[in-house]
Amino acid sequence: MAQLLSCSSSLNTSTCKKSYLKPLDQCSAAFSISVPFKTTRFPFRRLFLREENSKRSRVVRATAIATNQDAPTQSSSGSPQSFGVPSKPQRVMVIGGDGYCGWATALHLSNKGYEVAIVDSFVRRLFDHQLGLDSLTPISSIHDRLHCWKSLTGKSIELYVGDICEFDFLTEAFKSFEPDAVVHFGEQRSAPYSMIDRSRAVYTQQNNVIGTLNVLFAIKEFREQCHLVKLGTMGEYGTPNIDIEEGYITITHNGRTDTLPYPKQASSFYHLSKVHDSHNIAFTCKAWGIRATDLNQGVVYGVMTDETAMHEELCNRFDYDGVFGTALNRFCVQAAVGHPLTVYGKGGQTRGYLDIRDTVQCVELAIANPAKPGEFRVFNQFVEQFSVNELAALVTKAGEKLGLNVQTVSVPNPRVEAEEHYYNAKHTKLIELGLKPHFLSDSLLDSLLNFAIQYKDRVDTKQIMPSVSWRKIGVKPKTVTT
Ligand SMILES: NC(=O)c1ccc[n+]([C@@H]2O[C@H](COP(=O)([O-])OP(=O)(O)OC[C@H]3O[C@@H](n4cnc5c(N)ncnc54)[C@H](O)[C@@H]3O)[C@@H](O)[C@H]2O)c1
Repeated sequence: MAQLLSCSSSLNTSTCKKSYLKPLDQCSAAFSISVPFKTTRFPFRRLFLREENSKRSRVVRATAIATNQDAPTQSSSGSPQSFGVPSKPQRVMVIGGDGYCGWATALHLSNKGYEVAIVDSFVRRLFDHQLGLDSLTPISSIHDRLHCWKSLTGKSIELYVGDICEFDFLTEAFKSFEPDAVVHFGEQRSAPYSMIDRSRAVYTQQNNVIGTLNVLFAIKEFREQCHLVKLGTMGEYGTPNIDIEEGYITITHNGRTDTLPYPKQASSFYHLSKVHDSHNIAFTCKAWGIRATDLNQGVVYGVMTDETAMHEELCNRFDYDGVFGTALNRFCVQAAVGHPLTVYGKGGQTRGYLDIRDTVQCVELAIANPAKPGEFRVFNQFVEQFSVNELAALVTKAGEKLGLNVQTVSVPNPRVEAEEHYYNAKHTKLIELGLKPHFLSDSLLDSLLNFAIQYKDRVDTKQIMPSVSWRKIGVKPKTVTT
């Protein structure tokens, strides 16, 4: 059974100050293992040209070739134009575009004719190195990914490498790319990671809250009409004993009625960072007229989208470990390697789930139908609800069809959460905008299991059991190992 061991590898994610303006070899300390920078394949991006002596750049750009689709365009007011004289294609900045949801979304939007730029610090790849984890799927460097995408489709995706908590970096990226919409995935997104130790708790809240605050200030300062599409989580709501609405609830109290933000009951330092983000965004919509959509996303499963399936070099990451792996993806890998499915406690924990193909669809719908200036819109982004026990039963059945002997084991719950509870969350707004959900069918489970079987030799079974305890979090720096 995995456990927490003290060791010397405390968190060190600080990049050197203004690293994006320096040659890479002067600022590679934090990234030296994790980021295989290639520096010769791409020309400099314009914002770095002022670094006269720099032979290498952290911003990459390749050129675009027109596609067979009409590009979505942007009017001067910031609303999408579907007909009339087209202006320029909408420009979408995808922050966190090297990550699981962000990579799939960046490719999807590029394929649909948007001008896309990825902003990423690669800190997620660094976490893997620090904790000794790895994606089930081999993932290429961002440079190889983007080069492959351009070779296959002729489309370019710009790349801005840096930490959005550095406002100067974000400023340059905003001024250079001039986004019409920003999709913000760029956060530390694991609840267990935020509960490893004090330094990870502090890092998570600092990275997420300050990063989002910087994005809000950048929009206010440089791109007032820009629509912020921010990834929140269904976990912000917790598990109340009443129906969960989409963002707001109308309450009558002592004879007076008001529509108020739906109560938040987050259950980790990560989820709490998301709650704080939501409050900051709501406030700036009111105070500065920012237009924003908060996508309270459920648990995402799956790996393939139309675009990532085009070439193995475009393959997305797939996390199965106890820190970054999400429920259904984890169960599929466990079944593939003959590990019992790890149900936490009683297994009645119920959450909203969605296929990664719906993540990319939802984000596109939010961009194509932007919030109005000053509007703080909240969509619950999931398509089905399952309890952990229900997921385990579905994977067991699908595994048996493939000849796998799938067992389930109840492990002590490392989290502090209700294990049996009422759960009924609304999720109609994205459907009303046109979402065509992919439901979890037998065939999808078959293909997910087959996918896990294909890569099972890459599984490190030591990473499967939960290794972070909500109750045992302490000050001392820890690493996750066996
Ligand atoms: N994966 C899920 O099931 C899920 C569910 C609900 C919500 N979400 C939300 O969706 C978003 C994306 O999740 P994911 O699974 O793709 O995560 P991920 O960790 O795979 O990707 C996040 C990306 O953001 C980058 N990043 C983090 N901090 C940054 C910073 N300060 N500056 C620049 N880049 C930074 C990372 O390097 C990484 O590439 C997160 O905000 C997460 O909370 C995800």
